[in-house]
Amino acid sequence: MDDPVSLKNDRFLRALRSEPVDCTPVWLMRQAGRYLPEYRATRQQAGSFMGLATNPELACEVTLQPLRRYALDAAILFSDILTVPDAMGLGLYFVEGEGPKFKDPVRSEADIAKLAVPDMGSELRYVMDAVALIRRELDGSVPLIGFSGSPWTLACYMVEGGGSKDFARIKSLALNNPAALHRLLEVTTDAVIAYLAAQHAAGAQALQVFDTWGGVMAPHLYREFSLRYLQRIAAELPRGEGKSRAPLILFGKGNAPYLEELAASGTEGLGVDWTVGLGEARRRIGKQVALQGNLDPATLYASPEVIRAEAARALDDYAAANGGSREGHVFNLGHGMSPDMDPEHVRVLVDAVHQHSRRG
Ligand code: CP3
Repeated sequence: MDDPVSLKNDRFLRALRSEPVDCTPVWLMRQAGRYLPEYRATRQQAGSFMGLATNPELACEVTLQPLRRYALDAAILFSDILTVPDAMGLGLYFVEGEGPKFKDPVRSEADIAKLAVPDMGSELRYVMDAVALIRRELDGSVPLIGFSGSPWTLACYMVEGGGSKDFARIKSLALNNPAALHRLLEVTTDAVIAYLAAQHAAGAQALQVFDTWGGVMAPHLYREFSLRYLQRIAAELPRGEGKSRAPLILFGKGNAPYLEELAASGTEGLGVDWTVGLGEARRRIGKQVALQGNLDPATLYASPEVIRAEAARALDDYAAANGGSREGHVFNLGHGMSPDMDPEHVRVLVDAVHQHSRRG
């Protein structure tokens, strides 16, 4: 079923293969979400976030909503990174205003010993059904991105029991009982690989790993507890061959110190936040992999003129370091959008990226 060659718009996949493009492709992390009134309406109809995420028809609907408004070059599956630990039995729920929580967080070695890779055909069937339905509804208009959290980022939520400001529990575990945390990360990595492979088999044409919290660690701990497992994913994830290979994108908040190591992992794409210039990133890693990013999402709070200028600056910073070529760049934000952003500003940004990069 996977025939990306027949896509009407394959700029995003071409950019990830560093092939020539007519203009720079753009999509935005969290492009489907609460800043869109139509999302809020569908979310209300579903009753809860998990009600929305576990209903393939509604998940498909909200995935397509931003594509109806904007000239985006890729769709991203509407789901959440925490579906995997939920399927491992931790019991995901959301408290209004407090974010995600787990009913049964991992608090002991016995809890870790109980963890197993969930069955993609049963516990996570709803995700694969959503992927297949979205592929059908997209009808070759743009490629579909599947995703997972990184093992470390999932472990943060599993051990903390929800979001955290200081990561006290997981950092204590890393320091006091590293062997136990490695056991947790090994099984979670197996689950992430199986989850991404199943999304690919269901129709996802690119795969992104979100390492949202890797950057909170000291370098030696990042390398031991996050990078090592990202490298395993890049090396072991089955994602097809040749033109139909689904490129992998490793996104990491605060990953700027590790770009060389990440680029050498075997990934096809590297997602960076705004704390590193795209030009600097390209110079440091050479031509090895495609780069995705990296406008500060707060730029969307600025005026349309400033948004256009900042988009042009990021595009030109990249091209100047890439021998004057825009190849190998997927435009994105450096992290996800926020609920209070103005939908009209998103249109300004998406159009500015295409217009500015088309001019050469
Ligand atoms: O990019 C997209 O449009 C795809 C959808 C997507 C969501 N979550 C939808 C969502 C993706 C890719 C994610 C990933 C995700 N989820 C990450 C990694 C990416 C990142 O932002 O760093 C993380 C850390 C999570 C965990 C999570 N889920 C958080 C922190 C929240 C927000 C809680 C809150 O109340 O603000 C969620 C819930 C969530 N996931 C929402 C959306 C649109 C909002 C919930 C709602 O609609 O009520």
